[in-house]
Parts: sequence; structure tokens; C-alpha cells
Amino acid sequence: MLEFLNVSKSFPSEPEPIEVLKKISFRVKSGEFVAIMGPSGSGKSTLLGIAAGLDQPDVGNVVLDDVDLTKETETNLASLRAERIGFIFQNFQLLPGMNALENVGLPLYLKTRLSEKEILEKSMTLLKSVSMEHRASSFPKQLSGGEEQRIAIARAFINEPKIIFADEPTANLDSKNSKVVLDLLLDRNKKQNTTLVIVTHDPAVAKLADRVLEMRDGEIISPSQTKSVKKAKPAKKKKK
Ligand SMILES: Nc1ncnc2c1ncn2[C@@H]1O[C@H](COP(=O)(O)OP(=O)(O)O)[C@@H](O)[C@H]1O
Ligand SMILES: [Mg+2]
Repeated sequence: MLEFLNVSKSFPSEPEPIEVLKKISFRVKSGEFVAIMGPSGSGKSTLLGIAAGLDQPDVGNVVLDDVDLTKETETNLASLRAERIGFIFQNFQLLPGMNALENVGLPLYLKTRLSEKEILEKSMTLLKSVSMEHRASSFPKQLSGGEEQRIAIARAFINEPKIIFADEPTANLDSKNSKVVLDLLLDRNKKQNTTLVIVTHDPAVAKLADRVLEMRDGEIISPSQTKSVKKAKPAKKKKK
């Protein structure tokens, strides 16, 4: 589970600081698929970075399962990210000097006890899962945007994270590639029960989500009901 409790964040600016997140509280249950929508500048990327432990709020708490990310050292956060969190960016963020296979295996090099051979094997399995094994030795600049994003997804999946954050993962893709990327994320959500939090402007993505959080000016304005809640049968009273 992911929980934000009264999270605020501002950035220094003249004449006064910009309040980017204003006392935000929400929860995402394990296995849930939540879409975050809202106009540009409303704080979505800031929120996602804080949720993934890439950035810290000024006040408030961010709890991922049993860990309060606001109380951890940078070193602990780095290993927590490597073990539990996958992050997918709008602009892919592959390392230009590494080929596709090496990019996919990157999180494993950062933490692991695996041998070089095991890392390469695992990376190849992940490349196959996104149908990119034929481009293993290609460098990012030789790939299309859709191909780059598939590599980035394989990289995000390689540590079998329990939660995946994606910041406008289809914004730079055409509709065909958007669908491929979305299907990969959805498949992970449904089959592995991986929690999925996607920032998006795409109504098609939002439609697939269990729940949509709408952001405006640093606040969440409409936490709509989850499908699972709507679908759920009325709770039975416990007999004693
Ligand atoms: N590192 C930063 N320093 C200063 N201002 C920032 C920084 N990051 C984001 N902002 C500002 O915070 C606001 C929200 O940004 P962001 O979270 O990127 O919004 P969104 O992803 O919804 O477009 C914007 O006004 C942006 O300029
Ligand atoms: Mg953004």
C-alpha cells in the first residue's frame, strides 16, 4: 500500500515560494491501478517523484508498505527503490552509452548478488517479454520512441517491483505504440498484481484505471470511486 499523509511541497521562487503540493492525502491499495490526471503544472510529476522516493516533501508522510520514505536515509531509499519500485519516464531516460540489453539490466548491476552471466540472461528474458530481443545490441539513438519505451519498461520490470510509477509514459508515442506500452503495463498489473500509478493526459488510459485522481493547483480534487468498490458486494456482517 502507498499512503500520502498531509504532504506539502514548495519550491523557492521570488517574490514567494511556489506551493506545488498542498496537504495532499490519498491511498493506493496493493494491486490497484490508479491514474493521475490534471493540467500541466498542477504538481503531478512532483507528486510521483515523492511517491517513488526520488524527492522529499517539506512536510507530511509518505508510507510505502511498512516504510515511511520521509524518514529514510538516501542510501536506504536507493536500495528500497532498487528492490520495490519501478519508474517509467515520459522521455524514457535510457543511458545513451549502453545498448538495450545493458539498459534493461541496469537496476541489477546497482544492487545484486547475481553474476554477470545471470544478469545478461535475466535482461534477455525481460527484453523478450517486451518483444525487443532482436534489438539487444542496439543503442538508444538507433531505436524509435516506442522501442525505447519498451526497453524502459523492461528495465522497470526487471527487479519485479511491487509498485510501478509511470509519468506520462505514452505522451511521446503514436497511438499504436501507446497501446503496446499500455498493454504491457496492464498485463503486469493484472497478472502479477503489481500496483500501477500512471500520470496521464490520455482518457483511454484513465478509462482502464480502477480509479482516477484529478489534480488542480497542487490539490487532489476528485478522488472518484474505484471500480473494485463499485463491483464489491455489500460487506457481510460478522457473526459473533
Ligand atoms: N525543481 C523545481 N524547482 C522549481 N520549481 C519546480 C521544480 N519542479 C517543479 N516545479 C514547479 O512546480 C509546478 C508543478 O510542476 P510538476 O510537478 O512538474 O507539474 P505537472 O507534472 O503536473 O506538469 C510547476 O509550476 C513547476 O514549474
Ligand atoms: Mg509532469
